[in-house]
Amino acid sequence: MASTNSQPAIRVRDLYKSIATSTHTVDILRGISFDVPQGQFLAIMGASGSGKSTLLGLLAGLDAVTRGSIQLDGEEITGLNEDQLAVLRARKLGFVFQSYQLIPTLTAEENVLLPAELAGANGDSPSRAKQLLETVGLDDRRDHYPVQLSGGEQQRVALARAFMLRPPILMADEPTGNLDTTNGAHVLDLMLTMNRNEGTTLVLVTHDPALAGRASRRIQMRDGEIVSDEQ
Ligand SMILES: Nc1ncnc2c1ncn2[C@@H]1O[C@H](COP(=O)(O)OP(=O)(O)OP(=O)(O)O)[C@@H](O)[C@H]1O
Ligand SMILES: [Mg+2]
Repeated sequence: MASTNSQPAIRVRDLYKSIATSTHTVDILRGISFDVPQGQFLAIMGASGSGKSTLLGLLAGLDAVTRGSIQLDGEEITGLNEDQLAVLRARKLGFVFQSYQLIPTLTAEENVLLPAELAGANGDSPSRAKQLLETVGLDDRRDHYPVQLSGGEQQRVALARAFMLRPPILMADEPTGNLDTTNGAHVLDLMLTMNRNEGTTLVLVTHDPALAGRASRRIQMRDGEIVSDEQ
């Protein structure tokens, strides 16, 4: 479907997620609704266990909703199959997980290049990968494998990878959670630059007050619900 700028980047309506365990059903998300306009920088906050990662995973089509609607650029994603979701994610989404999910058999640089290779992109990809690694302060770690990198370094590689294809929407779960102040500031700068220069819509889950303070909007979650929405 064609996207227009009048459409929100993300539209969520009455979203529920329940998970059945052997003994009972856990209601993780309980009726979430919000719109994210194109180019907004939204921070999602809330206590551990409030449902932030679950929400982000649903927005990225990584998990099935129990009930409700999610549209990305006007396109409903809740009914799509895995192949359709993969195409949509490649086109629209960069995603940084709370666990970094780097490919262990690839170097830092190869991990950053991977989305371009999967998408069949070439051209400026190698130089962009180098430039992104430089931006996250890892140009000297290019040839290292994930196991040779610290948690914070892996997180920065994951972020560089997420930006590789200049996604219109970037979702990140605690992108600065394991970084020291200096590297956290680098990563925040990188995201703000993408937001400003390329109009990237940012949806970040964070506990980091410095990061949340730079966002244009903060949504607070508690027990699977939105309890405040401050712009
Ligand atoms: N597969 C699952 N089965 C049962 N419960 C689950 C499952 N996944 C998540 N939960 C529960 O759902 C709730 C929300 O989890 P979620 O990971 O979304 O929280 P969060 O806000 O991201 O927390 P944190 O800040 O610690 O990362 C938690 O109580 C968690 O235990
Ligand atoms: Mg989480």
